[in-house]
Amino acid sequence: MAEIEFSREEIQAMRRSYGEAGLSTLDADPFVAFADWLRQAHQNPVIVEANAMVLSTLGADLEISTRTVLLKDISEGGFTFFSNYSSRKAHAIESNEQVSLLFPWYAMERQIAVSGLAAKVSQKESEEYFATRPWASQIGAWASHQSLPLASREELEQRYEGAAKKWPEGSTVPCPPHWGGYRVTPLSIEFWQGRYSRLHDRLRYERHNTEADWELNRYYP
Ligand SMILES: Cc1cc2nc3c(=O)[nH]c(=O)nc-3n(C[C@H](O)[C@H](O)[C@H](O)COP(=O)(O)O)c2cc1C
Repeated sequence: MAEIEFSREEIQAMRRSYGEAGLSTLDADPFVAFADWLRQAHQNPVIVEANAMVLSTLGADLEISTRTVLLKDISEGGFTFFSNYSSRKAHAIESNEQVSLLFPWYAMERQIAVSGLAAKVSQKESEEYFATRPWASQIGAWASHQSLPLASREELEQRYEGAAKKWPEGSTVPCPPHWGGYRVTPLSIEFWQGRYSRLHDRLRYERHNTEADWELNRYYP
């Protein structure tokens, strides 16, 4: 194995102490509390992509996979993102609707972890959002067979050029049939705020099914 640039000591010394700002309570509605933290993250100049979230799924082969996607809506009681319906994540969701989402706002000593059930949004909703995307992103969605092996970068760029020729800039690009949204309806939403001496605050909204009322509980850090 090649020499690694980082020593164990150097990595182990990567630690910082967290602030004094506490989390005494949160709004009874987790989406109100979530929107409040998302706004604070979005307004924080140190945070890039405040709406980026790490999505984990469990495939039919019981392999867990994880990747970042962008939150594009919080409505109808769920968190919405858009993707390719033939991708690895799409296949995983097809076989197991249970997913988790993580918003890692380290610069604010915060994270929000969601676990819930993913389902496709309506075609109309996907088409409406697709129409708002920049032209280049729309063409990119046609060009990509997301998650399939790709022989070369050139192949991808040729597919992009082909789609760009078919729908030149300024024309209406239709939403690809293999592209659309998922809404994650949460069963738990945990707010984590870093505190001194590793005595962090963890407050978790929980419910047994998507129709039940929320309970808000505090957990040991
Ligand atoms: C900041 C960031 C945002 C991303 N947003 C999306 C997104 O909204 N939708 C998406 O399909 N992929 C997005 N990706 C790419 C995914 O992380 C992933 O590579 C891709 O969806 C393929 O995942 P899969 O093969 O596990 O299905 C994003 C990546 C990053 C780093």
